[in-house]
Amino acid sequence: MAHKKLFLLLFFLVFPFLLDSSSAQMPGFVSLDCGGTESYTDEIGLIWSPDPLAYGETVNIKVANETRRQYTTLRHFPADSRKYCYNLNVTSRTRYLIRATFLYGNFDNSNVYPKFDISLGATHWETIVISDANALEVRELIFLATSPTISMCLSNATTGKPFISTLELRQFNGSVYYTEFEEEFYLTVSARINFGADSEAPVRYPDDPFDRLWASDSLKKANYLVDVDPGTKKVSTKMPIAVNKDEMPPEIVMQTAVVGTNGSLTYRLNLDGFPGSGWAVTYFSEIEDLASDESRKFRLQLPGNSDIGKAIVNIEENAQGKYRLYEPGYTNISLPFVLSFGFVKLSDSSRGPLLNAMEINKYLKKNEGSLDGPIAANLVLHFSSDWAQEGGDPCLPASWSWIRCNTDLQPRIVLVKLSSQNLTGNIPIDLTKLSGLTELWLDGNSLTGPIPDFTGCVDLSIIHLENNQLTGELPSTLTNLPNLKELYVQNNKLSGTVPNGLLNKDLALDYSGNINLSKGSGGSRTNIIIGSSVGAGLLLIAAIVSCICLHKGKKKSNEQEPPGQSLSVQKLVSSKSDAHAPSEVAHCFTFSEIEDATKNFEKKIGSGGFGVVYYGKMKDGKEIAVKVTLLSRIHHRNLVQFLGYCQEDARSMLVYEFMHNGTLKEHLYGPLTRGRSINWIKRLEIAEDSAKGIEYLHTGCIPAIIHRDLKTSNILLDKHMRAKVADFGLSKLAVDGVSHVSSIVRGTVGYLDPEYYISQQLTDKSDVYSFGVILLELISGQEAISNENFGVNCRNIVQWAKLHIESGNIQGIIDPTLRNDYDIQSMWKIAERALMCVQPHGHMRPSISEVLKEIQEAIALEKEAAIMRAGYSDETSRYSAHSSLNIGIVGADHFLSIDDESIARPSAR
Ligand SMILES: *[C@@H]1O[C@H](CO)[C@@H](O)[C@H](O)[C@H]1NC(C)=O
Ligand SMILES: *[C@@H]1O[C@H](CO)[C@@H](O)[C@H](O)[C@H]1NC(C)=O
Ligand SMILES: *[C@@H]1O[C@H](CO)[C@@H](O)[C@H](O)[C@H]1NC(C)=O
Ligand SMILES: *[C@@H]1O[C@H](CO)[C@@H](O)[C@H](O)[C@H]1NC(C)=O
Ligand SMILES: *[C@@H]1O[C@H](CO)[C@@H](O)[C@H](O)[C@H]1NC(C)=O
Ligand SMILES: *[C@@H]1O[C@H](CO)[C@@H](O)[C@H](O)[C@H]1NC(C)=O
Ligand SMILES: *[C@@H]1O[C@H](CO)[C@@H](O)[C@H](O)[C@H]1NC(C)=O
Ligand SMILES: *[C@@H]1O[C@H](CO)[C@@H](O)[C@H](O)[C@H]1NC(C)=O
Repeated sequence: MAHKKLFLLLFFLVFPFLLDSSSAQMPGFVSLDCGGTESYTDEIGLIWSPDPLAYGETVNIKVANETRRQYTTLRHFPADSRKYCYNLNVTSRTRYLIRATFLYGNFDNSNVYPKFDISLGATHWETIVISDANALEVRELIFLATSPTISMCLSNATTGKPFISTLELRQFNGSVYYTEFEEEFYLTVSARINFGADSEAPVRYPDDPFDRLWASDSLKKANYLVDVDPGTKKVSTKMPIAVNKDEMPPEIVMQTAVVGTNGSLTYRLNLDGFPGSGWAVTYFSEIEDLASDESRKFRLQLPGNSDIGKAIVNIEENAQGKYRLYEPGYTNISLPFVLSFGFVKLSDSSRGPLLNAMEINKYLKKNEGSLDGPIAANLVLHFSSDWAQEGGDPCLPASWSWIRCNTDLQPRIVLVKLSSQNLTGNIPIDLTKLSGLTELWLDGNSLTGPIPDFTGCVDLSIIHLENNQLTGELPSTLTNLPNLKELYVQNNKLSGTVPNGLLNKDLALDYSGNINLSKGSGGSRTNIIIGSSVGAGLLLIAAIVSCICLHKGKKKSNEQEPPGQSLSVQKLVSSKSDAHAPSEVAHCFTFSEIEDATKNFEKKIGSGGFGVVYYGKMKDGKEIAVKVTLLSRIHHRNLVQFLGYCQEDARSMLVYEFMHNGTLKEHLYGPLTRGRSINWIKRLEIAEDSAKGIEYLHTGCIPAIIHRDLKTSNILLDKHMRAKVADFGLSKLAVDGVSHVSSIVRGTVGYLDPEYYISQQLTDKSDVYSFGVILLELISGQEAISNENFGVNCRNIVQWAKLHIESGNIQGIIDPTLRNDYDIQSMWKIAERALMCVQPHGHMRPSISEVLKEIQEAIALEKEAAIMRAGYSDETSRYSAHSSLNIGIVGADHFLSIDDESIARPSAR
């Protein structure tokens, strides 16, 4: 208690400093209540201050189950191409925890769940994806400060607006979280778990003097600590524990633990951010009373890795006593996304294994940032305007609003535009150090003094210094710039003569309005502009590349079309050329014939309800009108190709490319499957192909096209087993500016989006729902609807799979014909994504592009794992030691028995 009071006192002493700056005062805490209006102390003794930011808007929110004051406000930013940064003062060469939290709370009343990026300096930290308006997202990162400030930025919103609820900085002391990689890597926190916890609430300040969040092991979350051995029991003690070393876990965390009373502890959990290299430690302390003849000895159990399991833990011995901390682990270990681990007692041990806490962090490579970063940082020190406080790296992840950078991996600044910004003083010399600069705009300010030497900026081509108070001569060094095309210095106070080198150059030059500046020997004071009139366009406006919906760059139609479109070619026999007209029997045309006849759909002669009509002339001179509707406009290699059309008498035919291998449905559970079902990697590739086809419909065509009837019988396989999406018979165009299309519900039972069914409002997310069902079918080999296969009271694959996946039992749904020939991580990835796709509400579902990305990641995982499974003697064993389930605990003595020292090094020290 006295302890706590002391802290409060300290806080009040440093309070004024915290208010006007985020400077790291003792004890090194900064707690920004984003969107807050005043400072206050919360119930656990943290001092919160409002976030002093010139950008963004603040808003109050109300979330029923979250009453903490810092979560009643937030700050949000425009969804533009800029970045919005918090600049925090830190102490160089000190380690910190930075924590950013996000509670959406539907602040914009749009229920569009935001998705945006956060970065630390130039390094992409994470993409924040909100999937529940009332759930708090927490991100933690541990870093070594290498400069006196650090910037945390928000940018790149793909949906909704970027926003932030709190930003916290916690300073560590001593060698807490030291790693040998800290100059080049950050650590992002993936799991920090307090085992045997008393409640579901995390342990934090003041129990943890560094205010880390120690999550309770009794928290109920999907894929968090499942597969627990039934013999697992909680134990706890009130005895003090010596924790003041290594990472200094809080005493209260070490006072609780779990014990495997039946001889083993087992767990499985998903590690956000992994697979990758990480830092993983376990925290042990003997807190049970063992009789003199009793012992607790155990070893790590890792499915698929016997080597690490050779190491033995004997807590009391390793920690040199009871109630003392023993913290073994690995400073660089390769971990999977789905981590299974366990501890088993040795046969000569009387007690089962015990575990107090563990922590797993992932290495995040620092981005070195723009080459001009330090110069730019120095440059903005001269200014106090908002634009000088934008913070972060000048170019990454997005550039400051007043500069432009090139696209190099380590970018350079190519344009500085500070026109009419009330700049005073000399032209900052730092500008002359930007060696990649091509354009400089400083016109319309009150700059004084001479024009500096820009010789170092060899690429400079456009310089605007007009309408300032610049004095001195027009420097002859300007003639050194080989690429100079435009130089504007009019209306300054320049004097002397214009260098001949400039007058002789092919240059747009204006030096008028400088009454003491003359042309030189001629002595004329007239204002002249010589040289070519190079266009002074500032920014290249990127050409908008729109979907080539019609073959080879055809015009597109924006009309809404009724269901059931098809291509139709109406012959319009002109009376003028009747002489040549053949019989009135309808003809078959190939697409290329029509393309030729219409000169690539050159002349639009009308647009009716069913599509655009083009004029054409056949080789024999016959004039035709061609009506083009939806089908012919869709070209993508993952969509079944429409080849042609034929109409004769009352019959009409559509001609498609032939798909040798039939439908996906037949391969999953048709008669074809017997004994030769398609393997997992093939299934993933089929998912990828189909997603690409759908993505094209949703995003590649204007207006977007919603398929409406995605199902396994509409996914066709060619002779190489590549998949194409077929049957646009029901497709609808999404009308511009309207995010949904209301219509009579169509689709197929089992695949039908329930929200669409109820509201009759169709969006692209309805297709995502159907695609989620297809993913579940790929995993399970089950039909979408079945009366028998899903147990009692369940006819639907979605309900059935959801139940299994959410309880962590993915094995229960995996198609048995896949045997064990798949990587569990890629399976999990797809299973979790599939569940997102079949969320009840469209706005909670990912876009098809996001799903596609996950599928591609799953394919990468699967391919890597397949190589390992194939087994290449020596190489494989080395490889698997690097990348399979490797969290490990070893006694220092035993460690040396592990072959590869560099990857599995215990950090006990
Ligand atoms: C950071 O520290 C500097 C002095 O070192 C101070 O002038 C400034 O106000 C502080 N900035 C912030 C954002 O706290
Ligand atoms: C509030 O409820 C949401 C579910 O809607 C849950 O995800 C979140 O964790 C809850 N927050 C708190 C602080 O209990
Ligand atoms: C912006 O986000 C999208 C989607 O998450 C991503 O593909 C893209 O690379 C990001 N852009 C930048 C500049 O980080
Ligand atoms: C680090 O901080 C902890 C908690 O505030 C304190 O107990 C410990 O003495 C400090 N250690 C050093 C080396 O400053
Ligand atoms: C512990 O193991 C014994 C013997 O194997 C078994 O009978 C008992 O059910 C197990 N207890 C639990 C909780 O699993
Ligand atoms: C960790 O080990 C891997 C594999 O040996 C290596 O590539 C990597 O650079 C090491 N360090 C980090 C921080 O990942
Ligand atoms: C420049 O100064 C004027 C007068 O003080 C002010 O009205 C204007 O907003 C300023 N412009 C900028 C870009 O700061
Ligand atoms: C131009 O030169 C004259 C004579 O040297 C000087 O008096 C005057 O102030 C100068 N004018 C400007 C605008 O610099």
